Amino acid sequence: MESKRIVSIIGTGSYVPEKVVTNHDLEKLVDTSDEWIYSRTGMRERRIAAEGQAASDLGAEAAKKALADAGIGAEEVDLLIVATLSPDMFFPSTACFVQDKIGAKNAFCFDLGAACSGFLYALDNAKNQIASGAVETALVIGTEKMSTFLDWEDRSTCILFGDGAGAAVLRAGGEGRGIMDSVMGSDGSLAELLQTPGGGSRNPMSHEMLDRKENFLSMQGREVFKHAVTRMTESVVQALEKNGVSADEIKCFIPHQANIRIIDAIAKRLNVADRMYTNVDKYANTSSAALAIALDEAVKDGTITKGDLVVLTVFGGGFTWGANVLEWGK
Ligand code: ACO
Repeated sequence: MESKRIVSIIGTGSYVPEKVVTNHDLEKLVDTSDEWIYSRTGMRERRIAAEGQAASDLGAEAAKKALADAGIGAEEVDLLIVATLSPDMFFPSTACFVQDKIGAKNAFCFDLGAACSGFLYALDNAKNQIASGAVETALVIGTEKMSTFLDWEDRSTCILFGDGAGAAVLRAGGEGRGIMDSVMGSDGSLAELLQTPGGGSRNPMSHEMLDRKENFLSMQGREVFKHAVTRMTESVVQALEKNGVSADEIKCFIPHQANIRIIDAIAKRLNVADRMYTNVDKYANTSSAALAIALDEAVKDGTITKGDLVVLTVFGGGFTWGANVLEWGK
C-alpha cells in the first residue's frame, strides 16, 4: 500500500469578540453568583459577539490570523471546513460565507456538524484528505456565536457558554510526525441530553415552538458531565495506544474547554494534571471553537514548541467525542 503523506499544522489563529461578560454581569440577569459559577465551572468571564456579528464574521477573523501565521495567501487554500453548531443560516454553509470574506476563491467549502467535537473531527477529515493526496492545503475553523442560541433567563445554561473562533492551516509535509491518528466515536442514542430541539425539520419554526423556548440549547448537565469525563479519558488512552506513545511523552494535553471540573477529573484519571491546558476561565465554553482557540493560545504563549507531542481531546452533543496526537513541527 502506498504510504500516506505527513500532514502538519503550519499556522493557527483565533478571534474573540470585544465584549466581556463577567460572572458579576450575569448576576444582574439571572439568580446566580460569581462564587457558584466559578466553583462549579472555573469560569470567570466570557466574550459575547456584537448583534451584527455572525459565526462567519468571527471565523473569518480567526482564519485571516491563521493564514498570516502560516505565511500563505487565502487563494492557496484548497479545502475549507467550518465546524459550527451556530451557523449564519441553515444554508448556504458558513464555510462559503467565510470563503467569500477571506478570498479563498480556489477552495471547496463545507460545514461539519459534530457540536463541540467539530474542530477535531474537521482537523482529522482535512488531514486525511491531504494525506491521501486529494488536496494540498486546508483551512479548518471552529466558530460559534453561542449567545444566539442561549435562553438568557435560564441560569443552568446561559452562564456556561461564550462566543469565539479558532482556525488552523494544514499542509502536506513538515518536520516530525505532524498530525497523527485520531480515535473518534459517536452515540446518537443520547442525543436528547444535549441539543437545540426546535427550528429544524423535526420541530419547525412556529410561534408555539418559540413560546416553548425550543430554539434554545437544552442540556442535562449532570449526565453530560459524566459522559464527557468517561469518553474523553477513554479516547485519550486509545489515541496514545494507537500512535504508540505514552502519556509521559506528551508535553501538553488540550481538552475541550467545557468546565474546569470535567478537565480536572480527566487530568486526575490520566495522572497528567501538571500538563493540562485550560483557558475556560476567560472564554467559558465556546463549543467547536474552544479547542481551536486553546491550541492557538498554547502555541502563542510558548506552552507548545517545536518537537513537542500534544494530545487534543473533545466531547460534545450527539454525543460525539475523540482524541488525537500531534507532533508540533513549527
Ligand atoms: N447559579 C446558581 N444556582 C444554579 C445555577 C446557577 N447558574 N444553575 C443551577 N443552579 C442550581 C440548580 O437549580 C440546583 O438547585 P436545586 O438543588 O435547588 O435544584 C443546584 O444549583 C444544583 O444544580 P445542578 O445542575 O445539580 O448542579 P451541578 O453541580 O451538577 O452543576 C453544571 C451544574 C455546572 C451545569 C454541571 O452539571 C456541569 O458542569 N455539567 C456539564 C455541563 C457541560 O459542561 N456542558 C457543556 C456540554 S459539553 C460540551 O461542551 C458539549
